[in-house]
Amino acid sequence: MTTTNTGILNLHPDRNLGMELVRATEAAAIRAVPFIGHGDKNAADKAAVDAMRAFLATVNFDGVIVIGEGEKDEAPMLFNGEHVGNGRGPACDIAVDPIDGTSLTAAGRQNAVSVIAVSDRGTMLDASSVFYMNKIVTGPAGIGVVDIRKPIGENIRALAKAMGKDVGDIRVAVLDRPRHEGLIQEIRDAGAGTRLLLDGDVAGGINAARYESRIDMCVGIGGSPEGVVTACAIKALGGMIQTVLAPKDDEEKQKGLDAGLKFDYVYDQDTLVTSDNTFFVATGVTDGGLVEGVRRKGPIIRTDSIILRGRSGTIRRVQADYRADRWLES
Ligand code: FBP
Repeated sequence: MTTTNTGILNLHPDRNLGMELVRATEAAAIRAVPFIGHGDKNAADKAAVDAMRAFLATVNFDGVIVIGEGEKDEAPMLFNGEHVGNGRGPACDIAVDPIDGTSLTAAGRQNAVSVIAVSDRGTMLDASSVFYMNKIVTGPAGIGVVDIRKPIGENIRALAKAMGKDVGDIRVAVLDRPRHEGLIQEIRDAGAGTRLLLDGDVAGGINAARYESRIDMCVGIGGSPEGVVTACAIKALGGMIQTVLAPKDDEEKQKGLDAGLKFDYVYDQDTLVTSDNTFFVATGVTDGGLVEGVRRKGPIIRTDSIILRGRSGTIRRVQADYRADRWLES
């Protein structure tokens, strides 16, 4: 069948987009490998960004980066407004995180992933003027049950009831940060267990929403880009994410207001990303609960990825073997 650049086809990512985009996260993850454990997070990020940009250029779509990463620590970035893809095919919004967990990568720690999320053009919230948002993520059991405006203890009890679990069996992922000291205490006071994340609340959020994962809920303040990326994945997983922007100061809040963002307002998966036509792809950089890290096995480099498609709810696991002589030594 021949497709054209006009009409409804132009509004929707084509059906194989996730399968093509995974090459970009695989490439980013592979290129980050030489930097794992070498202490330079910006060098790792730059290698991943360069590889992701090169592979995105080959994809048959007209993508605009709506939300990128790196601004907060002036890391190299795929910048907001940058056009990616070959310009032909569906018009899309993109959120990228070439490495979610740059510090994890630099330290040689687990749970770093390379991520791309895509939706129809004009459907992704541009929250880039405010770096942080407060988030709560669960699987389907949390829909209509959990509310970010309620105390965490109440949400834990409500989720436990909806899941038919004891509160003591609920595991809550939260970034291990001084700002979360009170939150962590409240989770434990409620009787639930914490799973403290050194970094990487995209994987934390997705694990909270995934069936049969070891995490039931992911909460706390993390990056806004990561919140939008997570929302694209949630569309496929059928869970829920609620977020409230958390500006650092009045100046940042004003920037957000000028950009049309709403404060004291709950953005959920359908307001963070208004289309259900989403793709989420992630490739492991280092080993983690979501995907395995890049592995060297003799002459091959093996990558492990996950592809989630919003419209169908399909979850694909993709393993790829690359020839090491064509990659790491080039
Ligand atoms: P980067 O690796 O892209 O810097 O993000 C890591 C991360 O842990 C995110 O997963 C999270 O949303 C954000 O940083 C939290 O920010 P901070 O490290 O400033 O608390």
